[in-house]
Amino acid sequence: MNAFSTSASPAPAGHPASGPATAPLAGTAEPPPGAVGTARPRIEGAGKVTGSVRYAADEPMRDLAHGWVVTSTVSRGRIRDIDTSAALAMPGVLGVIDHRTAPRVNPQAAGFFGTDGGLQLLQDETVPHAGRPIALVVAETPEQARAAALALSVSYDEEPHDTDFSLDHLAARPALPLFGEDANVGDVDAELAASAVVVDERYRTPEEHGSAMEPHSATAWWEDGRLQVIDCNQGPFLVAQTLAALFFLDPEQVRVRAEHVGGGFGSKTLCGPHLILAVMATTLLRRPVRVTLTRSQVFQTISMRPATDQRVRIGADADGRLRAIDHTPAFELSPLAEYLEYCTELTKTLYAAPAIRTRLTAVPLDILPPYSLRGPGATPGSFALESAMDEVAERLGMDPLELRLRNEPAVGPVSGLPFSRRNLVACLREGARRFGWAARDHRPRTRREGHLLVGTGLAATSFGAGALPSSAAITAEPDGTYTVAVGASDIGTGARTALTAVAAEALRVDPGRIRILIADSDLGPAWSAGGSRGTTSWSWAITEAARKLLARSDDPTRPLTVSAETSESLSRVPPKERHSYSAVFAEVTVDPATGEVRVRRLLGMFAVGRVVNPLLARSQLVGGMVTGLSMALHEEGVRDPVTGRHVNGDFAGYHIAAHADVPDVEADFVPDYEPGDPSGIKGVGEIGTVGTAAAIANAVWHATGRRQRILPIRPDRVLEERPEW
Ligand code: MOS
Repeated sequence: MNAFSTSASPAPAGHPASGPATAPLAGTAEPPPGAVGTARPRIEGAGKVTGSVRYAADEPMRDLAHGWVVTSTVSRGRIRDIDTSAALAMPGVLGVIDHRTAPRVNPQAAGFFGTDGGLQLLQDETVPHAGRPIALVVAETPEQARAAALALSVSYDEEPHDTDFSLDHLAARPALPLFGEDANVGDVDAELAASAVVVDERYRTPEEHGSAMEPHSATAWWEDGRLQVIDCNQGPFLVAQTLAALFFLDPEQVRVRAEHVGGGFGSKTLCGPHLILAVMATTLLRRPVRVTLTRSQVFQTISMRPATDQRVRIGADADGRLRAIDHTPAFELSPLAEYLEYCTELTKTLYAAPAIRTRLTAVPLDILPPYSLRGPGATPGSFALESAMDEVAERLGMDPLELRLRNEPAVGPVSGLPFSRRNLVACLREGARRFGWAARDHRPRTRREGHLLVGTGLAATSFGAGALPSSAAITAEPDGTYTVAVGASDIGTGARTALTAVAAEALRVDPGRIRILIADSDLGPAWSAGGSRGTTSWSWAITEAARKLLARSDDPTRPLTVSAETSESLSRVPPKERHSYSAVFAEVTVDPATGEVRVRRLLGMFAVGRVVNPLLARSQLVGGMVTGLSMALHEEGVRDPVTGRHVNGDFAGYHIAAHADVPDVEADFVPDYEPGDPSGIKGVGEIGTVGTAAAIANAVWHATGRRQRILPIRPDRVLEERPEW
């Protein structure tokens, strides 16, 4: 993937004519040119490519001990015994921590969604899933710790496990209503009965693993009565809060830093097992302990996207007007933890229909607790909804672009709320123009190039936008510079650089006068780099702090610090439907002799609010589209139903898109502005991923005439329709 080979046309970022006439900070001069809206490379880019910046496992530290995680080999049962005698006699070994020796933690400590049994490690002899951490071996070097871990002798009383995900599972239960109740608008059954065409199909997506380039690592130590942590995570403040609760500490006693993070994709949102075990070890040993996971341990112990199995029914009139959408997704869950794979997000908002019904079901299994990953919910949900929409167009003999345009809602079809700023039509029309959609013959299997079948497809997408409570502090320095402190996390997206531009605009100064401090829980409450709401949440706090600072007329020869917290201003935002939008267009070739699908072109047009930094935003969206391509064609976590263990939990077996899979990706913006945000921004974090798999699957249908309703679109599935996967 190459962010620099994207569309040559400059991004039309900034205020459209219809946006507010005045900037959010009234009464001051125009912002300096080159703050928001200008392409700038990452502040830390040179440090990253020359190797001078440090990731979590790189920080030199005196007296550092190393922990090696031991994971369960059975999928359910009880530990009968862990014989540590051989391990403890080995060179350099400092100790073995297991359920008999680990510090007791708070059973009430919870994650964002509620109960999270992933946090309460080494508390008893129970084994809830394969790969569960059951011990930590600590030694002077990682090699010594690994050797001793291999010398542990663990025996189990095995119990039968169930890791087999199926929609008909008896234990299925309603999912928690964290994002609102299931939708039930109109009379779905009557509207379906009255429809000229009805699509009723089942779509399935597998487990997917974040696969961030940097494996998880944490270093913990006690210093002057405070727990100090260097971790890789997506939100140091939220992780510090969880850690304090888990270890019965005052929040003031915990400091978590995550200066540079090598990718997250959701997999670094939580307080991870590496960190919990490092804290246990340093608490017992009273010296700094580092725990770094191997790639295989990341697969075993770090949350994945759950598999989904979704039934979609759509009824439409002969002219393409939708009468009903009925979406019934099930996703796999662990009984240890609450989590919601919110597959129905788009179903509730993307299209107008007099009847919309959604029912989300969780299926508890003996598996690793799943969690947010790359557009959680929306991404697998979009695959189902946008595939089904393509099937409606097929049955009507209609242009799938026209079908979308014909079902634009005037207000939220379920919420009844007005849309804050809806620009899906602009994305569809501009994307179609650039892609050359008008020349498409909508019948399948009509294009050939030599032995290859060629097809094109599209998908429409939205992703929730908004901000969550955060705080920021700005210090006006006597030399005319500003220090901006916000507990943000830069997981490789360029958050430092984006926030510098936002601060420069808010303070009406050149970005060169801004010094940005992030990635430290001591900087105060802040949302994480999650839910595509990092930039909006942190920018809001910076903008408010800047507004307060500009209102002051203190002695400029002394440093002045002003801080702001956004809960109150956020609560004043009128309730509206707020989303980013995109239209994704794909062209694929299919080799009918081998079943190989190759994506030849991928174009995304995005309405993501005001674009803070077109270079970084485009890179984020292109990266998101690449992960969508990877989802469509490659990624699949496979578990052996007999052992309950992953069979491809490493980069040899778990395929992700590589350079040769990604020939040409374009991402560009339509003019957009979010009136409910002080900087007009929406967020670019995840929407690039969301619609891409459906666009590719629809293109494969167009090429071959066969629907692909199960991801990934493996060669064997293209070669031959299979009733089961
Ligand atoms: Mo994102 S999956 O909310 O980190």
